[in-house]
Amino acid sequence: MSYDAGHPAMRLEAVILAAGKGTRMRSALPKVLHPLAGEPLLGHVLAQARALDVAAVHVVHGHGAEAVRRRFPEPDIRWVLQEPQQGTGHALAQALPGVSDKAEVLVLYGDVPLLRPATLRRLVEAGARQLAVLTAVLDDPARYGRILRQGGAVQRIVEYRDASPEERAILEINTGFLAAPAELLSRLLPRVGNRNAQKEYYLTDVIGLAAQAGLTIADCQAVPDEILGVNSRRDLASLEDTLRKRRAAEVLEQGVSLLDPGRFDLRGELIAGIDVEIDINVILEGRVELGDRVRIGPNCVIRNSTIGSDTTVRENCVIEEASVGEHCVVGPFARVRPGSEFAEHVHIGNFVETKKAQVARGSKINHLSYIGDAEIGSGVNIGAGTITCNYDGVAKHRTRIGDGAFIGSGTQLVAPVRVGRGATVGAGTTVTRDVPDDELVLSRTRQKVVPGWHRPGKKG
Ligand code: UD1
Ligand code: CA
Repeated sequence: MSYDAGHPAMRLEAVILAAGKGTRMRSALPKVLHPLAGEPLLGHVLAQARALDVAAVHVVHGHGAEAVRRRFPEPDIRWVLQEPQQGTGHALAQALPGVSDKAEVLVLYGDVPLLRPATLRRLVEAGARQLAVLTAVLDDPARYGRILRQGGAVQRIVEYRDASPEERAILEINTGFLAAPAELLSRLLPRVGNRNAQKEYYLTDVIGLAAQAGLTIADCQAVPDEILGVNSRRDLASLEDTLRKRRAAEVLEQGVSLLDPGRFDLRGELIAGIDVEIDINVILEGRVELGDRVRIGPNCVIRNSTIGSDTTVRENCVIEEASVGEHCVVGPFARVRPGSEFAEHVHIGNFVETKKAQVARGSKINHLSYIGDAEIGSGVNIGAGTITCNYDGVAKHRTRIGDGAFIGSGTQLVAPVRVGRGATVGAGTTVTRDVPDDELVLSRTRQKVVPGWHRPGKKG
């Protein structure tokens, strides 16, 4: 695949700089593996590259190299080791030999995850024939590199540490992102030196070198909220907040009601029908699909799951890797674990845990139960405190309950076991053998009264 917006012949390759240590994170974890909205920083940046349909993604890594590679086993990544790390210019120089010299290079930063694809597309267009930098104007330009212009044209970038007080007063900053023909970068990079405050080879120096050589430098602007980088945990928390707000706004735009957008976290992808309502403190992770008119109560966590139309998930539920049918009611306080599959009109009540449980239409498990490795037919009523004893210490076994069965409260179903259609299990029964269709089974011992018995009292 090649980038073809106006330059059909141009092959676009992305280089992600991600070798830095992230000293200011004070962490054993490499900076680019720190999670933002549940996904490592580098994951967000890889998504930026892939959104542009690049022909190749090169990731320059170094600090925590093995951990970083292990976290991203995707075969489309070309790993480039930078050891030792001698600056952003040195980092890009390690990757260039692996880039086609006919390509346009887009440089992305492993610690700058919020760039919008549309902004990057503009940068890529500007960088097809010349060096193009992405800048932003900030109220508080902090420690970002500053853009120096002459007669309107970009002349040079000065790093904060090397900048004079006048230069530090400039509000236009370098986002770090740039695009240029690979062949141009290969010519400029070897001329970058390291005579600066950090004794590093700065990628930003290629701008000054290009301007000196009489080349014009294209620039495009980004909005402040997309160029924020992570250098500290404080930055990370602030980006989390920015991304949460952005996603909440997108979800509202999609037509979903959020009772309080400030208390809603989408850490993945939401596919929603019409008139969905989400109460406060809800976290959605991975890929979540909500049908029409689904209502999610407060304090629910839903991960990689599908919820059918007209279903209500009441407050304080955790639902993961599950599929809930239409017109169901789940919770309050239900834990729906991986492999739970509910058909329509199923009721899962409070303090009910399900795992690998298929529950057919209209069945109810309303109170205090554990149903795991089970197949429940339709119209089944499972009484309070029913437990599937699915694990014998070595292997898991299945419980099968036929349509219309009635399981009395406090029942233990010792798997593997089958309860027939229409069968009734009396309260307090331990079911160890299959129950035939339509029969009643009881296993509890008869109640007896011991007359004149006294409870032992304490002596003295
Ligand atoms: C860099 C820019 C600065 C810009 C800012 C934007 C330079 C010299 N400075 O500064 O102008 O305002 O980004 O966020 O480019 N990296 C490597 N190998 C290295 C050094 C860094 O791969 O040897 C990677 C880091 O992992 C990081 C990125 O490059 O992802 C930026 O490095 P960092 O040290 O954070 O640069 P800044 O000081 O933020
Ligand atoms: Ca940085």
